[in-house]
Amino acid sequence: AVELLKPLVVKEPEIEVDDGKKKVTIFFGTQTGTAEGFAKALADEAKARYEKAVFKVVDLDDYAADDDEYEEKLKKESLAFFFLATYGDGEPTDNAARFYKWFSEGKERGEWLQNLQYGVFGLGNRQYEHFNKVAKVVDDNLTEQGAKRLVPVGLGDDDQCIEDDFTAWRELVWPELDQLLRDEDDTTTVSTPYTAAVLEYRVEFHDPVDASLEKKSWANANGHAVIDAQHPCRANVAVRRELHTPESDRSCTHLEFDIAGSGLSYETGDHVGVYCENLTEVVEEALNLLGLSPETYFSVHTDKEDGTPISGSSLPPLFPPCTIRTALAQYADLLSFPKKSSLLALAAHASNPAEADRLRHLASPAGKDEYAQWVVASQRSLLEVMAEFPSAKPPLGVFFAAVAPRLQPRFYSISSSPSMAPSRIHVTCALVYEKTPTGRIHKGVCSTWMKNAVPAEKSDDCSWAPVFVRQSNFKLPADTKVPIIMIGPGTGLAPFRGFLQERLALKESGTDLGPSILFFGCRNRRMDYIYEEELANFVETGALSELVVAFSREGPTKEYVQHKMMQKAADIWDMISQGAYIYVCGDAKGMAKDVHRTLHTIAQEQGSLDSSKAESMVKNLQMNGRYLRDVW
Ligand code: 2AM
Repeated sequence: AVELLKPLVVKEPEIEVDDGKKKVTIFFGTQTGTAEGFAKALADEAKARYEKAVFKVVDLDDYAADDDEYEEKLKKESLAFFFLATYGDGEPTDNAARFYKWFSEGKERGEWLQNLQYGVFGLGNRQYEHFNKVAKVVDDNLTEQGAKRLVPVGLGDDDQCIEDDFTAWRELVWPELDQLLRDEDDTTTVSTPYTAAVLEYRVEFHDPVDASLEKKSWANANGHAVIDAQHPCRANVAVRRELHTPESDRSCTHLEFDIAGSGLSYETGDHVGVYCENLTEVVEEALNLLGLSPETYFSVHTDKEDGTPISGSSLPPLFPPCTIRTALAQYADLLSFPKKSSLLALAAHASNPAEADRLRHLASPAGKDEYAQWVVASQRSLLEVMAEFPSAKPPLGVFFAAVAPRLQPRFYSISSSPSMAPSRIHVTCALVYEKTPTGRIHKGVCSTWMKNAVPAEKSDDCSWAPVFVRQSNFKLPADTKVPIIMIGPGTGLAPFRGFLQERLALKESGTDLGPSILFFGCRNRRMDYIYEEELANFVETGALSELVVAFSREGPTKEYVQHKMMQKAADIWDMISQGAYIYVCGDAKGMAKDVHRTLHTIAQEQGSLDSSKAESMVKNLQMNGRYLRDVW
């Protein structure tokens, strides 16, 4: 008899069972809510598909209080998905930072996750150097630590249509879950197509109240133990001035927030998060398009009248009862291009069927190219799109839940040091003012607000904003004698002004300082040489050993900071050899990349290293925390 070859049986890990149901954990690391939204969307659809499983959506920060707990709990997971956004210089979101640090340093733990099967979806932007780094690192580490990858890591690209990337990745997930979570007696082979229901908050209308009530609630300290993105505090604008001269056709604002008595503190190199408001003209336009009356006082709720939660909705932070005008000014992102889910929500409330069809088409796979062109590439704002579909009048609960994303706080590198300005947070902010392909003038929400802010030195009724501080690792070396190299053209100068204020204070208190060099760049010394006198003073007092400035539009050829670095290559190499820290701040897409390449060239030429040795030297600097970047 011929014995048939038995197929090789690979033992599949057991899926943990919870109340007789299989358990799936869906983690998210989110900053603006997109990753969280995807995590919930996956959970909602999965719940509808697999009745015999439970799906838990978990904030990575809430999952475990410390590293040991991460280890203990993860060991028990058998099926998990991770939605992870990458920010700035390849960094995780705040709520994933602790997990990321612990997990990515976990090689020595060995293959301890053999019971886990997983999928990772990343949210990033291809314009940046470290595209989806966090997702890639976690995916690699999961495999290295013994977990079994169910689907290739999803690389969502926010520069195009990240919803499409998510949809495509999700289609890879279902066949895998079908195998793992479907009952053997389940005969349904074709999965039911899923269409997301349009989310709607429950809205309650209230008696009209004096609008000043809204402001009053902000007059007090925030009443929480911490001040963070969910619990910002009020900060008045104390000082505002223009940093460019009238000759310049651009604008850059120096702004000082007064944080005296707020309980808020910061360190040199931190970031300040600012909740700003839409311009009045933008709010008026939105009111017109929606056909709403501005003074209606309302509140939004994520539960039904009987108290049961509305599936998929979570209460947005900071959305107290307010007038429609206030809600549009403070909570609605009206100027970004609409996501496809917003188009579908508009379609659901378009009374003209032709408009509804066209909106659905734009959001459909067949309309992919048109969406990419007509919406994304044209930078059509939500308001511009709404203007093209006048019959789409979503009710308030839909507008705030599904059409307009939350207006996000803007982050700025703080340009002061608490040793000089303990009760002030200084910001250096370039005005965003540009013509989009449709001919619209795009005015940056926060930079315009800052440019127009009324400071307390000019009026008792000054401008203010809810603010909070985000810590960064962009810090001076603990040893003040270590040399430092700073590279920051344009508003990239901001944190270095803070660094130099701190060094000046140290100097004045008699501390010995190591050598320092600053590479600054601007277009023209008469127009945008910001903080010129202060920089000269830092040199004069010895807080800064050398200032090197590149003017890009003075001579016949462009001079950039990296060209000046090449001229100073020997000095830079010397400083690096003496243990210098290198700091780069500013534009990530052009400048920081070019400066990185220049450092590489300097290492090659000055250190006589071949390309791969130079590369690993620069990498080492980065890993040892001696090459730090604060880029955007
Ligand atoms: P430009 O506007 O003349 O091109 C601050 O914005 C300064 O950075 C300006 O002088 C700007 O020059 C310059 N800059 C623009 N792209 C750069 C790059 N890739 N590397 C370094 N500096 C750059």
